[in-house]
Amino acid sequence: MSDISTDTWVMVCATDELVPGEGVKVGTCPPIALFNIDGEYFAIDDTCSHAEYSLSDGYLDGDKIECELHYATFSVRTGEALTAPAADPVGTYPVRVQDDTIFVAATQRCVIDKFRS
Ligand code: FES
Repeated sequence: MSDISTDTWVMVCATDELVPGEGVKVGTCPPIALFNIDGEYFAIDDTCSHAEYSLSDGYLDGDKIECELHYATFSVRTGEALTAPAADPVGTYPVRVQDDTIFVAATQRCVIDKFRS
């Protein structure tokens, strides 16, 4: 029996649909950006904390995503804002893989409080 509740976990795609080094926007509310970093999957808020641009449209460099509007970077592992002009982190979400399918816990947003002031 599955331990993934369909009430919490949103099925995103098959693992072979998201190749390493790429990301995809998940149409949840709020939208989530899901990334494949060398076979590990990470989910963060898709909306940049600087001026609400879509991070899944940005440039992925290792485990950092660069917003293509004003070039702030964020860790896709922690959501931490790494470079200006963004100062606030973005939220992160748990990700699970079951039977070659990727699920995101869209209701379990976590924000790094220590970066908020
Ligand atoms: S909207 Fe992302 S850096 Fe400005």
